[in-house]
Amino acid sequence: MLIDELTQSLLGHIILFITFAAMANKEDIFKKVIAHSKEYGYVFQSSELYDGLAAVYDYGSNGSELKKNIKEYWWASMVKMNENIVGIDSAIFMHPTIWKASGHVDAFNDPLIDNKDSKKRYRADVLVEDYIAKIEGKITKEVKKAAKRFGEAFDQAQFLETNPRVLGYKEKMSAISKRLNGSLEKEDLEDVKALIEELEIKCPISGTSNWTDVRQFNLMFGTKMGATAEGSSDLWLRPETAQGIFVNFLNVQKTARMKVPFGIAQIGKAFRNEIVARQFIFRMREFEQMEMQFFVRPGEEMKWYEYWKEARQKWHLSLGVDADKYRFHDHEKLAHYANAAADIEYQFPFGFKEVEGIHSRTDFDLKAHQEYSGRKVQYFDPEINESYTPFVVETSIGVDRMFLLTMCNAYREENIGDNDTRVVLALPPVLAPVKAAILPLTKKDGLPELARKVYDQLKLEFNCVIEEKDSIGRRYRRQDANGTPFCVTVDNETINDNCVTIRHRDSMEQERVSIDDVRDIIDRSVSIRHNLAKC
Ligand code: GAP
Repeated sequence: MLIDELTQSLLGHIILFITFAAMANKEDIFKKVIAHSKEYGYVFQSSELYDGLAAVYDYGSNGSELKKNIKEYWWASMVKMNENIVGIDSAIFMHPTIWKASGHVDAFNDPLIDNKDSKKRYRADVLVEDYIAKIEGKITKEVKKAAKRFGEAFDQAQFLETNPRVLGYKEKMSAISKRLNGSLEKEDLEDVKALIEELEIKCPISGTSNWTDVRQFNLMFGTKMGATAEGSSDLWLRPETAQGIFVNFLNVQKTARMKVPFGIAQIGKAFRNEIVARQFIFRMREFEQMEMQFFVRPGEEMKWYEYWKEARQKWHLSLGVDADKYRFHDHEKLAHYANAAADIEYQFPFGFKEVEGIHSRTDFDLKAHQEYSGRKVQYFDPEINESYTPFVVETSIGVDRMFLLTMCNAYREENIGDNDTRVVLALPPVLAPVKAAILPLTKKDGLPELARKVYDQLKLEFNCVIEEKDSIGRRYRRQDANGTPFCVTVDNETINDNCVTIRHRDSMEQERVSIDDVRDIIDRSVSIRHNLAKC
């Protein structure tokens, strides 16, 4: 009995140690993901030759493939899987009045605050949210302590609902959050500053609370169109792709002969002059969005809002990410156009953060464009013999953020026995930039020529590479780190038996198969068709 208790206590300490080590490691892991992204041609700092441009990034040979695959996977799930969703590709430059109508000129602001000592600029709301996240961290610590104390008998749900210390933390979080949201909604920026001071939030650089007043900062980039200074007009670079869909609503509905409910999907660049652009490609000034506006009958929006929340969750899970790495965050503070909104958050190494937004946008945008353009933007519903302005449910996900999620989720350092380790990028095969590496075992005996034959059979369907250099073991490691799901090795036996060895990246298992079966084996794992069947 005593030994059991001792063992349990020891185990508890070990688990705690491992947990803390894992927490300490998260920051390191993120740094490694960033370094790996550069080393393997995924992401480069833009204009690196000139010391870079803040929060702007370029995608390399692997990165551009991964990005393309993410977009294709999304597009297929929207436009191919749903007969009532069609795609468009609208221009980045749009009539400036569109941004007045959409509310972006007046309301697309972030509250900023500067620390007078460090001269660093922050988003005031993010400073408070980070403070709330710290309290959340304290709850996590309480849970871990209690789990260790109570062992198997521990009931986490009950603990979270009854422990006085946890309840105190929760109450504090909720009060701060309510006050922040209330002040932001009322545009009471003095109170946001007062809150920061009351919470004694300090600048992480200077360590002081010497703050300026909080002021609003519009996130849209301005530009000019026209040859001469006098004749030019002021334009905005679009901060979301959605408005291109709204202003084309009637064009698309009529030409594609769509009936409500139906959706319009679009993938394209968006630009935001973010105040604080940190965390690699998480918050960028130039990024890409994949947005879908679903037009529904007024009064039916909440049904469709729930439908799309579930559909989008399934899409994420179809890529094989652990369900407990995702969570929904329902908005308390709603954007000027929404009557319900939720984020799908992923557990990045720097915490749970938004990847995608699902918004019930009411009829705000279509009505606003009707008012500002002076043209009728309505739909005649033949089933009920009535004209109305459709309500809109939107799903909006950042391509770059999905890219970052995919990289963070895939990066692994594995101990594979015999004092050997490997770095593996366990990308979902459907998204992996290179699907198969064809490896002649040696550079002689006709093996390179045979490898090229296999490559030629596959190249039109899958992005493949041929690699001859280095030992087979080193080549496997390089492909593991590159994220390639299959290595196809051509050896001396291949000449006789028309077979090759397929090595699977994640399990490292090898199987001998006929060259004629290679295509099907790869296809089963990498095809969009097979993966989306899980949705
Ligand atoms: N049309 C609605 C809209 O734009 P949003 O929540 O502001 O909503 C949608 O943005 C998604 O776009 C976010 O969930 C995120 O994935 C991505 N996104 C927004 N700002 C971004 C930025 N600065 N850098 C990278 N991705 C961004």
